[in-house]
Amino acid sequence: MVICKYKGDKLLSSIKRLLLFCLCRWYRNGNRIIVHKKDGKVVECFNYFGLSVRLKGKNSIIEIYEPIKFQRRLLVNRSHIKVEGDNNYICIFSSCRSIHNIQAKAFGSNNKLIIGKNWYQNGFCFFDFGLLDNSNIVIGDNCMFGQDTKFMLGDYHSVLDLKTNKCLNIPRKGINIGNHVWIARDVRIMKNVTIPDDCIVGAGSNVTKEFSETNCIIAGNPARIVKNNITWDYKNTK
Ligand SMILES: CC(C)(COP(=O)(O)OP(=O)(O)OC[C@H]1O[C@@H](n2cnc3c(N)ncnc32)[C@H](O)[C@@H]1OP(=O)(O)O)[C@@H](O)C(=O)NCCC(=O)NCCS
Repeated sequence: MVICKYKGDKLLSSIKRLLLFCLCRWYRNGNRIIVHKKDGKVVECFNYFGLSVRLKGKNSIIEIYEPIKFQRRLLVNRSHIKVEGDNNYICIFSSCRSIHNIQAKAFGSNNKLIIGKNWYQNGFCFFDFGLLDNSNIVIGDNCMFGQDTKFMLGDYHSVLDLKTNKCLNIPRKGINIGNHVWIARDVRIMKNVTIPDDCIVGAGSNVTKEFSETNCIIAGNPARIVKNNITWDYKNTK
C-alpha cells in the first residue's frame, strides 16, 4: 500500500510538472524561464524571486543557475529584464554574492547576454541591446562591477557618410568582458569593446574600443591603458 501511494504521488507530481511546463509554454508564447537547481534539477517557472521579467516577443529564454539571489530592497529597486524581440537568450550563472538591480533591455531579436559564474555586482547595472539583432554581450567568470555600469550595444540612431549616405556606426562586434575583470563605478562600455582577462576599468571611464592586453588598468574618456602588469583582489588590502 505504501509503495502504491509513493508511486501515485510521484506520478501526480510528474503530471503537475508537465502541466506547468505546457502552461508556461502556451502562456508565454514560447518564452521560457529555466532554472537550474543546485541539485541538478531543471525547472520552468513563471517568474524568479527578486527578478521582474517582461517577455513580449516569442521564443526567448532566460536561464538561471542556482545558487543565486536577486536582492530586492524596494519594489522599484529590483532587477528587471525586458525583452520585446524574438529568440533572445539571457543566461546568468550561479554566484554566491547577491545581485543588486540589474536591468537588461532588448527590443531586437536573436541577441545573447551571458553572465559568467561568481559575478560580484554592487548597484545599478544596465545591459542595453537597443534595437539591434544578432548581438552578444558576454561577461566572463569571477568579474566584479561597481555601481552604475552601463553596457550600450546599440546607438539607437545612425551616423551617415555625407557623400554615400552609408551608415557608419553599425556594430561589428558585441561586448566581450574576460574572466576576473573589475569594472569600477560609473563606467560606460560601448559597442565593439573587448576587455581581456584580469583587467581593471577605472571609475568614470568611457570604453569605446577593443583591448588585447591582459593584466592592465584601462581608464579615462576615451579609455586607454594607464598601467600594465597588475592584477586585483576582492579584499581591500591596506
Ligand atoms: C582603477 C583604480 C583602482 C586605479 O588605481 P591606481 O592603481 O592607484 O592608479 P593610479 O592612481 O596610480 O593611476 C595611474 C594613472 O591612471 C590614471 N587614472 C587612474 N584612474 C583613472 C580613472 N578612473 N580615469 C582616468 N584616469 C585614471 C591616473 O591619472 C594615472 O595617470 P598618470 O600615470 O598619467 O599620472 C582607481 O583609479 C579607481 O578607478 N578606483 C575607483 C574604484 C571604484 O569605483 N570602487 C568602487 C567599488 S567597485
